Amino acid sequence: MCGIIGYTGSQNAVPVIIEGLKKLEYRGYDSAGIAYYDGNGINVLKRKGRIAELEQYISETIHNCQSSVNCQLSTINCSLGHTRWATHGEPSDINSHPHVGNKRNIAVVHNGIIENYKQLKEYLQNKGVGFASETDSEVIAQLAEYYYNGDILETVIKVSNRLEGSYALGIMFCDKPDLLVAVKKDNPLIIGVSKHGNFIASDIPAVLKHTNKVFYLEDKEIVILYKERVEFYGIDGEPITKTSEIISWSVDDAEKGGEPHFMLKEIKEQPKTLRDTINSLIKDGENKKVLDNFNIIRYNKIVITACGSAYNAGFAAKYVFERLCRFPSVEVELASEFRYKDAVIDDKTLVILISQSGETADTIAAMREARAKNAETLAIVNVVGSTIAKEADYCIYTAAGPEIAVATTKAFSAQLITLYILAVKFALQLNKISPELGNSLMEEIVSVPEKTALILEQVDEIQKHSSACVVYKSIFFIGRNIDYAIALEGSLKLKEISYIHSEAYAGGELKHGTISLIEDGTLVVAIANCKNLHSKIMSNVEQVASRGAKVIIVGNSPESDIVLPDCNELFSPSLSVIVLQLFGYYVAANKGLDIDKPRNLAKSVTVE
Ligand code: AGP
Ligand code: GLU
Repeated sequence: MCGIIGYTGSQNAVPVIIEGLKKLEYRGYDSAGIAYYDGNGINVLKRKGRIAELEQYISETIHNCQSSVNCQLSTINCSLGHTRWATHGEPSDINSHPHVGNKRNIAVVHNGIIENYKQLKEYLQNKGVGFASETDSEVIAQLAEYYYNGDILETVIKVSNRLEGSYALGIMFCDKPDLLVAVKKDNPLIIGVSKHGNFIASDIPAVLKHTNKVFYLEDKEIVILYKERVEFYGIDGEPITKTSEIISWSVDDAEKGGEPHFMLKEIKEQPKTLRDTINSLIKDGENKKVLDNFNIIRYNKIVITACGSAYNAGFAAKYVFERLCRFPSVEVELASEFRYKDAVIDDKTLVILISQSGETADTIAAMREARAKNAETLAIVNVVGSTIAKEADYCIYTAAGPEIAVATTKAFSAQLITLYILAVKFALQLNKISPELGNSLMEEIVSVPEKTALILEQVDEIQKHSSACVVYKSIFFIGRNIDYAIALEGSLKLKEISYIHSEAYAGGELKHGTISLIEDGTLVVAIANCKNLHSKIMSNVEQVASRGAKVIIVGNSPESDIVLPDCNELFSPSLSVIVLQLFGYYVAANKGLDIDKPRNLAKSVTVE
């Protein structure tokens, strides 16, 4: 996925764009670039690497210019910016966005994949159009320039109608240098409206400093942004009226708040995230309404589908649904697999989709597949107005606020707690638990935030354990039942930010193969919260320790290295995960890595 930002207004556009790009860098950081009108045509400055490199390049350009057009950089008021996560063409200067047509009349920034780009390229090449880059995105700029006859709307409609695949586009026209155009299909775009100008952006944090008033663009809606107004059109070219929304996130929510990394700040925010999410589900508000009106009785099967950490949350929830609801069938599927497996589902199936961003391409596809087969969809999503939130039959929002670090922490915890509440609610509806047990389970859930705060008080001790672990080349996470589910998340967290090889194993499965990998110099983190399986996991600990592994035990018994507050084991993943997140964080911090933006990853994967 990529980050798009565009601004037209009364302020100096370059710093506005650079600042916005920094807020979007979590979406991709292979390269970055800006486009602006320099008095003669559209000029583009773009560079492989992080936004800091682009910034350096821009300041050198300004510094080096004598009377060149680039001197105007400090006076331009309209610009487009892009931060890339490459899908087509290697990360390089030339493949970076913005892309321009050969006559430099039109510049385009793109998030998505143009599936028919080869055909379009061939079509244009046959008309004599040359191409500079290897990207799919360049065809959009060349096609727009090929069609452009002075009528912006007509051109954008023609281009959109020829594109297959997914796109969020920001477009700039050389002969209308104060104006920007945006259109999208299957990838997010918001329009921010402020006192000093108007914005296109992939996500809210990019505009939050300037405005909290936004419009969510729907598929194939076109918007023309002028300095002082915005106009919306349908793909038929007819004007449409849209209603703006006011975002409740504050600027601080999207800042590091004095912490060295967003990830640490977000880990520490979890007691609040959990409290806010619980309150949104049990006190007043939209989430509560959705929950109150939802009835599990009419379904005979639940399928939970998601990617990455969201999948791990679903995997943990499966144990809770099964234990409390005794539901005949609860399946958990990776969305990337579910979408292609021709799942056996029907109108009696509830498909639960979990996604922080609400924009993960595989999860969107899984949702559409489920809907096409008449299953009902319930989404648990963090980003308001995102594609999954809008298209699912029911949507519950997690109250995690903006999550910037690529490795998810607080959104994961919010997903887990939401799933516990759903499980208790379903169990009550199905008469599988008594109202008394339901109440006491809810009380336990309500006490989880406080318990996570207690774990955060042990941060120094966790840091000490983690710092000693930097030397390991391979780290295993083991657990049984629901502890195994959270071992998966601990392992994912560690490997994505520390680049240390790691695997999660069900304790009982070790002896079926993995134990051959255990030797001196292997670290095993054992999660031990399941009371009836305590002796079993401790046997696994013995087995690996006797083969030379160093073991760290995270659990609620006194012999644990990191002792967790007492908690119903079904909800214990919410506690273990805090330790595992901090563990991964401090291992990576000790290695001096770029924790918020790990290599090769993007915050949400809006392409396949
Ligand atoms: C988590 O740390 C990852 N970066 C990743 O696995 C993520 O959870 C996954 O891509 C799903 O994203 P989503 O929740 O936005 O759908
Ligand atoms: N396909 C475009 C490229 O590779 C955009 C990628 C994306 O949105 O992730 O440049």
